[in-house]
Amino acid sequence: MKAYLDNSATTFIAPEVLAELKRIYSQVPGNPSSLYSLGMEAEQELKRSRSIIAGFLGVQAKEIYFTSGGTEANNLAIRGAAAAYSRQGKHLVTTATEHPSVLNAFRALEEKGFQVTYLPCGREGRISACDLKEALREDTILVSTMFVNNEMGALTPLEELSQVLRERKQNLPLWHVDAVQGFGRLEVKPESLGIDLLSLSGHKIHAPKGVGALYCRGGIQLEPLFYGGEQERALRPGTENVAGIAALAKAAELAFADREKDLERLEEFKEKLISCCKACGGVVNGPEGSAAVPYILNISFPGVPAEVLLHSLDAKGISVSTGSACSSRQKTPSHVLSAMGLDRNRIKSAIRMSLSRLTGKEEIDYACQVLPEVVAELRALYGARR
Ligand SMILES: Cc1ncc(COP(=O)(O)O)c(C=O)c1O
Repeated sequence: MKAYLDNSATTFIAPEVLAELKRIYSQVPGNPSSLYSLGMEAEQELKRSRSIIAGFLGVQAKEIYFTSGGTEANNLAIRGAAAAYSRQGKHLVTTATEHPSVLNAFRALEEKGFQVTYLPCGREGRISACDLKEALREDTILVSTMFVNNEMGALTPLEELSQVLRERKQNLPLWHVDAVQGFGRLEVKPESLGIDLLSLSGHKIHAPKGVGALYCRGGIQLEPLFYGGEQERALRPGTENVAGIAALAKAAELAFADREKDLERLEEFKEKLISCCKACGGVVNGPEGSAAVPYILNISFPGVPAEVLLHSLDAKGISVSTGSACSSRQKTPSHVLSAMGLDRNRIKSAIRMSLSRLTGKEEIDYACQVLPEVVAELRALYGARR
């Protein structure tokens, strides 16, 4: 038996998405920029995919730009906006719990003379609208906040942040939302919230790795990250990944088809995992209940080193992570759990379990059977008390 519980790191390609990839690779081989019919067919696929993604966000198709994934979409939004609006101000706002693709983009901008305010989060990992209000300055040109935290599943109160930003009644700052861990599972409508830029990624919703998109509200100027042809209206030049883009659109359709039912099922699964973990001394990191998403759970087993637990679970066919996949090889403690003020022991014993719409009940049952045994064995080995 196996249980794949690391869907926030990546998801497996859904069978229907794989079929879509095969269809494009075998039947639509053209370059979308070519003027003959093979090219036009490829361009049609892009057009269709763009409308599908735009439809789920409730925005116009021309406001969607395909990228190589969430990291590129975040960089394009943040560095692109900072470069384009630097004459109007040099102050930027983000949060301490962002994904490295956001945090490191801001750090690079600091090196270039921008000032960045990093909003703190409480012990529950939530940022507050009051903190945002206090951080805003006359020269703030960009605010970037994530939708769902990838390490512990906290939901950012977008409605509350939206109110603060609307009260400003000026064109700036622009508001960017990294929705990589939310798109396709939760609804987010940029226009009604006043979001100007929004990033998403395919491989978190059963599409392939290496494809994503940026919503950029019409009228906003972004400096491209690189220069080339006229693809994606020259904001993201380079021959488009037609198969990946069509696969992203297919994955989004599948994700939205039964979204609410999927969430209900995941809620039950998460509850079951929480009860099982608590029964063997686990402590939940981050918010519980409606302040967190039902598909990400971060839990510490104090006294049991997370890395050892990860490998012991792996030996039994259960995949979990010790944080976000992109920083899991780093030796420094999680910046997210550190920002929440958790103590070192709690951070060192934290694992993340993350689910997707394709997670099966049998995987949860298996994890709930194996976890208590493995935790008890490791507790005995490390002499840890509950
Ligand atoms: C919140 C968040 N933002 C951005 C990314 C980066 O996306 P990608 O892997 O498509 O570059 C990730 C990936 O883990 C993420 O969790």
